[in-house]
Amino acid sequence: MYDRWCVPFCSVRCGYCDFNTYTADELGEGATRASFADTAVAEVRRMAATLESRAVETVFFGGGTPTQLPAQDLVRVLRAIDDAMGLAPGAEVTTEANPDSVEPSSLQTLRDGGFTRISFGVQSAVPHVLATLDRTHDPERVPQAVRWAREAGFDQLSLDLIYGTPGESLADWERSLDQAVALEPDHVSAYALIVEDGTAFARKVRRGEVIMPDDDETAEKYLLADERLTSAGLGWYELSNWARDESAQCRHNLLYWRSDDWWGIGPGAHSHVAGRRWWNVKHPAAYAGRLAAGRSPELDAELVDDATGLLEQVMLRTRLREGVPTSLVASRGSVLADLARRGLVDVGPDRVVLTLEGRLLADAVVRDLT
Ligand SMILES: C[S@@+](CC[C@H](N)C(=O)[O-])C[C@H]1O[C@@H](n2cnc3c(N)ncnc32)[C@H](O)[C@@H]1O
Ligand code: SF4
Repeated sequence: MYDRWCVPFCSVRCGYCDFNTYTADELGEGATRASFADTAVAEVRRMAATLESRAVETVFFGGGTPTQLPAQDLVRVLRAIDDAMGLAPGAEVTTEANPDSVEPSSLQTLRDGGFTRISFGVQSAVPHVLATLDRTHDPERVPQAVRWAREAGFDQLSLDLIYGTPGESLADWERSLDQAVALEPDHVSAYALIVEDGTAFARKVRRGEVIMPDDDETAEKYLLADERLTSAGLGWYELSNWARDESAQCRHNLLYWRSDDWWGIGPGAHSHVAGRRWWNVKHPAAYAGRLAAGRSPELDAELVDDATGLLEQVMLRTRLREGVPTSLVASRGSVLADLARRGLVDVGPDRVVLTLEGRLLADAVVRDLT
């Protein structure tokens, strides 16, 4: 079992991002940052009373930007989860953070309060790329934030990078990778920029103001990332994720990719426990209003049937280095043989694993297997 707390606040909305998040101007009446931790604690207590008690193996504070809240509030919500459900011994507790939303003192409060892992949204080391992404932090701030996190005692530190931003050259991407590697992270996530419908960035692409790179350029950047990260001792364990060793892999995401149960807290949070999936109302004010009135924030729910569950497992597990269990895709025998013949997968008795070539075409491989 694992928990995910969605904190829907950001100082500025990045044009490319479609996460359920709000700046102070967008938030409106009925929800405040000051009361958000109390609201989350109310949801934790309410949910714990309805769920079968199971120790929580991992907790992930995700965004938005959790570190927009005072560190003490994050610790308070973590305590509430521990009191209500019990954290398993050695539980992994992560928070995402923007480099410009942390200070030495807030990092120390988080570490002393039980956080074991921090993931910084770095995205790029190159000012013009950061500007296209609407990122507000000064790239000089990243090494400083990493140093503070280490000094506070975080021995699990991850960096998020984005490649394929319009105007980013191969040399720019190389510079971002080199800066990331020089900071000696335990873990790196590198995502190709996705144009999400309905975002300001998607409108710019549609109007032709920015041009997205073609697939060959994106593939070249993926290969460069894999080469640089691997030479720095970080091995891939999921398509977009590299870790120093097994102990540095994100256990929270691995549980998700392996379709374990998860429990989401916060506006728009999704949960999945014992084949039932449900999701909360999206707006923070509606979410807070329901909990203040003693009502559940759940908006809707569905039962996941076996066929859908299987399909999702194939989609997620194919992207893992450990591969998808062969038994899950055995019915696609001729497709598997064809993928193997084209050098996209290695088919073993227990697992089907993407080759490097297959990783470049992972979406197509998954489409063929589902
Ligand atoms: C919730 S954000 C991380 C925390 C923090 N708010 C930040 O941005 O630094 C999670 C990560 O999702 C990735 N992300 C968000 N939108 C994306 C998009 N359209 N394409 C690719 N990656 C995206 C970014 O790398 C980001 O670091
Ligand atoms: S990428 Fe992060 S900082 Fe930017 S809007 Fe999305 S959640 Fe907020």
